[in-house]
Amino acid sequence: MSPDTQQWTPTHGQPYRPAAYRPARMPGQESLARAAELRERMDERRTVRHFSPDPVPEQAVRDAIACAATAPSGAHQQPWTFVLVKDPEVRQQIRAAAEQEEALSYDGRLGDEWLAALRPLGTDAVKTHLTDAPALIVVFQQRYWLGPDGAKRKHYYVDESVGIAVGMLLSALHLSGLAALIHTPSPMRFLGHVLSRPENEKAFAVIPVGYPSDDCEVPDLLRKSLDQVIVEV
Ligand SMILES: Cc1cc2nc3c(=O)[nH]c(=O)nc-3n(C[C@H](O)[C@H](O)[C@H](O)COP(=O)(O)O)c2cc1C
Repeated sequence: MSPDTQQWTPTHGQPYRPAAYRPARMPGQESLARAAELRERMDERRTVRHFSPDPVPEQAVRDAIACAATAPSGAHQQPWTFVLVKDPEVRQQIRAAAEQEEALSYDGRLGDEWLAALRPLGTDAVKTHLTDAPALIVVFQQRYWLGPDGAKRKHYYVDESVGIAVGMLLSALHLSGLAALIHTPSPMRFLGHVLSRPENEKAFAVIPVGYPSDDCEVPDLLRKSLDQVIVEV
């Protein structure tokens, strides 16, 4: 655990430093009960595309980002930045740029196969969630480490690490009672420009956070059953 007062710096090249790890073992019955409850709660999560403008408890969003930042990462390089955007003008700029790209995408750039894959979701180029939701978390991958003097160092397993962190972020938001959407406008280079991110950062996703609107609808989707996803050997 690293309290907010301690600042991490790269451990590149440092010797191995062991620390004892002896968490109390949870009794099997409690594990079963917790796992069953968690399975039910997680199954209630849905991607929300229609948000209420109502504000959310901001610290809950920061706590969810802190949860995401506990994710495992290749060589513990923690190659992520979460930009929390609340400013309505900046959200409007992001929406305008995203809708410009999405219009081209839905007008044919995605190709027939991709558009067919999206049809059951009922999505289109209009992205009201980017301005309706009271906060956006824009996730950036740090493709490489960039030192203050411009020195660069390779980062390992960046896609995997950031993907895991985003999964944890979505879970934390959901379990804190907040709704979210992982939105990946393509291409999304504009996010780095609008948010003035450094050259080593590449946008990964925009995640609007808030509450579903009163008239929110979601596509009626079926998830794979456990026996469709598990293979026991
Ligand atoms: C990597 C990734 C990218 C996604 N990109 C978009 C997107 O750009 N727009 C969107 O409306 N939904 C997007 N989604 C959400 C999926 O469509 C959604 O998770 C899926 O339809 C299942 O619905 P559920 O999350 O409600 O279970 C994305 C999800 C993932 C994991």
